[in-house]
Formats: sequence, structure tokens, C-alpha cells
Amino acid sequence: MKQARPLIVRALSNETVERPPVWFMRQAGRYLPEYRALRAEHSFLTMCHSPELAAEVTLQPLRRYPFDAGIVFSDILLPLECMGAELEYVPGTGPIIRNPVRTAADVAALKPFDPLRDLPSPMETIRICTQEADVPILGFAGAPFTMACYMIDGQGSRNWPETKRMMFGQPKVFQALLDRLADAVGDHLQAQVDAGAVGVQLFDTWAGALSPDDFRRWALPASRRALARVSGAPRMFFTKDSAPLLPWLKALEADAYALDWRVDIGAARKLLGDVAVQGNMDPMALHAPHDEIRRRVRKIIAAAGPKGHIFNLGHGLTPDIDPQAVGVAVDEVCGWSWS
Ligand code: CP3
Repeated sequence: MKQARPLIVRALSNETVERPPVWFMRQAGRYLPEYRALRAEHSFLTMCHSPELAAEVTLQPLRRYPFDAGIVFSDILLPLECMGAELEYVPGTGPIIRNPVRTAADVAALKPFDPLRDLPSPMETIRICTQEADVPILGFAGAPFTMACYMIDGQGSRNWPETKRMMFGQPKVFQALLDRLADAVGDHLQAQVDAGAVGVQLFDTWAGALSPDDFRRWALPASRRALARVSGAPRMFFTKDSAPLLPWLKALEADAYALDWRVDIGAARKLLGDVAVQGNMDPMALHAPHDEIRRRVRKIIAAAGPKGHIFNLGHGLTPDIDPQAVGVAVDEVCGWSWS
């Protein structure tokens, strides 16, 4: 049965709730045998671009676990394809862009991105899932800096050397790229809200690769610009390695901050002020014995407190994780009561 004002919406609005709502980043994916079965028949991109398949995959974890929200099955890099990137997902390697952006001419040649025209699948998937699921659906997009990393370096990297070469050596070109990406992902988030997403998350996975000064100069204003284009639903902001950046995150004016596991969630709240937080269990803690998983879940909930906390992992579920362990963690959250 659908709730009038779902638990996740109340927590994202920084209200005091009876227990934290719970969803997990990458809750749909390769750790689930039913995902692998479907994936054996279709490429990842085909699944993302087919609303019926994407909806099926979005719903898979919701059939197994009492999550309080689904997250639309898609990928942060899809808008880049619409803007002209030759994007491929290579098993074992991850995403690759064959024609990386390196010059002012490359940035100028990017195509404008209109989400409804160029990438309708996530919105259609949200519509299907909103009909079919008992819980609300979240939307998402990649943050401008993280998108720029893939666009410029052309594939995943620890140090992002080409991105930083452009950032330091061609600052005007880099800024122009961030501006283009900020407007594109802002519009993508708004389209998902308009399609029925009850909240949206901006993933700035690689912002933690920046010094605090560079974060404030480049990534932060770009993400703020993207988030400012979105209204009508709470907006979450995620970054990995967030600890050194915490003192500045508030300037993003997001509605909730998703924390990785390297920060103490109680201490983070003191730095962030009175705003909702999400997180922050180490995904690898799901390899711990079940009673240790439960103990860690309780510790995070107790440290976060009853107001505006959404339980999640500090990063996405990985393919090596046992589906049973996910059930244990979710069960422990759902059994919590603040009263
Ligand atoms: O959370 C969800 O369940 C929704 C779906 C989702 C995916 N990717 C599906 C996916 C979301 C929210 C993402 C976000 C994403 N994608 C991020 C930001 C969050 C993060 O994890 O840091 C980034 C950086 C990407 C880019 C991306 N997509 C990478 C680096 C990879 C390969 C990594 C890997 O695990 O192989 C992908 C592929 C991808 N995106 C898969 C899934 C389920 C695996 C594809 C497959 O089945 O082969």
C-alpha cells in the first residue's frame, strides 16, 4: 500500500522519523542472480535504453527486500552519449569514451542535451516503476565534475591526469565544459522529478580527488548550478572521500548529503548543520558475520539520530556481496524504533 507521505520523503525533508528509511546505492545490479540472468541476454546499454527492462531491474531488489525506495536503473554517463561521446561499457574495464574531450573545439562541438528528446528512457522507467512499486522511486544524475572526468580522461582513473591537465592548463575551456554539463544534468534531474521521482541524487563520486581549494573553485559551483535548476523534490548530493570537503558542502544548498564510510556520521552532522544526511555503512562491512552487520547498522543509526537520516551504504553495492547480507542489514534498519 502506498503511503500518503512516504518515510523517505519525510526524512529527506529533515523531519524526525520513527526509524530511518533505507535504500542502497547500486541496489539493482550484479550481486543479484536475477540481474545477472537478464544481463546475460542484453547489453548494459540496451537495458538502460529499454524502459521495460530497466523497470524490471529497478523492481528486482524491491521484490527481495523491504527497501523504502527504488532508484531508477540507468547510468550517469548516458547523457554524455547524447552530447556526442562514443561510450562503451567494457566488461572488466568499465566505461570507455573513445573520443575524449581535450580542446576548446571539442567542447564547442558538444551537442545540446534535451532529456525528453534525447534520453527518454529513465523518465519512462520512473513512470512504470511508480505504477508498479509499493515504494517511491528516486532519480539521479552525475555531477558536472565527475562527468567531466570521464569525458576528458576517457575512462576511469585514480588520478584523472587529463582532467587536471585541462583544469590547470585550459581553465576557460574546463569552465565552459562544466557549465554545459551543469545545465545538462540539472535538466536531466528536473525531467526525472517531473516524471514522478520523489527525490534525486547528484553523484559527485570523484570530487574527493580535488584539493579543498579546487573543489570550491570548480566542482562546488558547478554542482550548485545543476542543483539550482531542480525544484519540486528533495535533492541529495553524494561524494566519496567527503571528509575534507564537509566544511564547504553546505554552500551547495542540497537538501541532503550522502556520506561515505570514512566519516563519523555524528561528527559530520555537526559540520553540516541542521540538514538531512544519508549513509554511511562501508559496503565491505556486508562481508562481516551477520551479528556484526547488525551491530554496525545500529551504531550508525544511533550516531545519526532520529532527525533527517536516510540509511544507506557509503558507496554502491559491489558484485561480490552476498544478497543474504543485504537482507540482514535492511532487516536491522527496518526493526529500529526511535520511540
Ligand atoms: O544504484 C542503482 O541501482 C541505480 C543504477 C546506477 C548504476 N550506476 C548502474 C550500473 C547508478 C546510480 C550508477 C551511478 C554511477 N555510474 C556512478 C556514480 C556512483 C558510483 O558508483 O560512484 C558512476 C561513477 C558510474 C559510471 C559507471 N557505470 C561505472 C564506473 C561502471 C562500471 C563499474 C562496474 O562496477 O563495473 C558503470 C556500469 C554500471 N552502472 C553497472 C551498473 C549496474 C554494471 C554494468 C553491468 O551490468 O555490466
